[in-house]
Amino acid sequence: MALSVHLLRPWQKLLVGSTASVMTSKWSRCSSVLSGNRVRMVEKSPNSTDPETSQGVCTIHGKQQQQATPISRAVFPPQAVFKRRFSALCGSSEVQEGALIMEKVCLNEAARMVEVEWSGGGVSRFPYVWLRDNCQCPQCFNPDSRSRLVLMLDLDVNVSPVRVEVQGGSSLSVEWPDGHQSQYDRHWLRERCFSTQALSERQRDWHRKTQLWGADLAHNLPKADFPALLTDDRALYDFLIRLDSVGLVLVQNVPCDVGQVEKLANRVAFLKQTCFGKDFEVVTKMNPSDLAFTSVQLGLHMDLPSYNYTPGVQMLHCIEQTTGEGGDNSLVDGFNAASQLKEENPDAFRLLTTVKVNFNYVGTDHHKYFFRTRQNVISLDDQGEVQSITYMDLSRSSILDLPADLVQPFYDALKAFNTIMYLPRNCLSLKMAAGELIIFDNTRTLHGRSAYSPDSGTRHLQGGYMDWDEIYSRMRAIKADLGIED
Ligand code: OGA
Ligand code: ZN
Ligand code: ZN
Repeated sequence: MALSVHLLRPWQKLLVGSTASVMTSKWSRCSSVLSGNRVRMVEKSPNSTDPETSQGVCTIHGKQQQQATPISRAVFPPQAVFKRRFSALCGSSEVQEGALIMEKVCLNEAARMVEVEWSGGGVSRFPYVWLRDNCQCPQCFNPDSRSRLVLMLDLDVNVSPVRVEVQGGSSLSVEWPDGHQSQYDRHWLRERCFSTQALSERQRDWHRKTQLWGADLAHNLPKADFPALLTDDRALYDFLIRLDSVGLVLVQNVPCDVGQVEKLANRVAFLKQTCFGKDFEVVTKMNPSDLAFTSVQLGLHMDLPSYNYTPGVQMLHCIEQTTGEGGDNSLVDGFNAASQLKEENPDAFRLLTTVKVNFNYVGTDHHKYFFRTRQNVISLDDQGEVQSITYMDLSRSSILDLPADLVQPFYDALKAFNTIMYLPRNCLSLKMAAGELIIFDNTRTLHGRSAYSPDSGTRHLQGGYMDWDEIYSRMRAIKADLGIED
């Protein structure tokens, strides 16, 4: 018979009188999670302790008991817990805390949570359903693929443990109504703590550590050595960290022939293919599919705003530079420009963060293409922080899906943003020499090019793209491999 009321007796040992049958086959065990059968409990003396472990043990009790005081001190003293941050960059890192001991454990039936009291003070509360869903035994979790085997189809979201105990201070043992046994390691649990402090620590780690910059970055440009990037994982990691935080790195000592952007991308993961193919040659061409393949000025822009899955990062490798005037690249931190716009012209900022702009890109290059998207020029994340910039004059559509009265204010806002971008304090100019490569965040760092004369020798860049998911993944993998601390 299912028990309707289950109340907490904190840190007391209760004995189990289990009537649940232990199922033997893998699938009958898993599917029995569905049943949610509960067992009858017999209370033992309130002050007894577990003779084997001297650790807290408890089970639920079938009769109405005194309601326990809810444990409200679930926030840890910061020095005792989370000495390291569980960076989003390395979400599953181990806690290096030798003295982390589980003192006691108890069921809080009112809250439907297992409560663990730690040696250093503080209590963690783990919801029943979450514990059952995240059982780490080989029937419930495949360690090779690190995948959950428990299907939602089979999960009883109302399941309650029949018995919990701490084993040796280091492992939480839970018995479920169908006899299934789960063990949870103390470090594993601590990394998944639901306390307010743990949640806010983890929330912080999802934020990008952005370093805003202006034109004076030219004196302090993040640089990397190409041969080192190809051979040294630590150098690659440091380079990617700078790429993430600054959004621009100059790579030097790159051989002056094609194929180098692919080599670099392959060290990270691979090139992102686009309508230009795997990579692309930026030279003056007959019948160019894009203005980049001419010698005219290119205004500040991102590449391929007309993609929903816009390339995260762009590389431009200078194989040959014009011997004449021009051909310089301009580079601007779009996040910095957006924050200045927000400060100086909040109405313009609000318009650019709310009004959708159409971008089109139609033509033939690698194949015949027709892209269209609808984007905010400045996109915000769920915390209201600038997340990405989508800006390109040449593929902004003439179809503007706005009420006519909003058009002038929209242009005023766009002009205000553009003016800030081009301010000398914001816009950095760089003329790459052959053997240099710039790599930048395509969703943040806007780039442009001054016009050059096609008669002053060949100008040849090779370009390629990568995605942030691949970059972050590679960074986490290197961080774990090399044991890099934050
Ligand atoms: C491009 C581009 C700049 C340049 O190919 O996307 O902006 O310097 N090129 O030619
Ligand atoms: Zn299991
Ligand atoms: Zn471009």
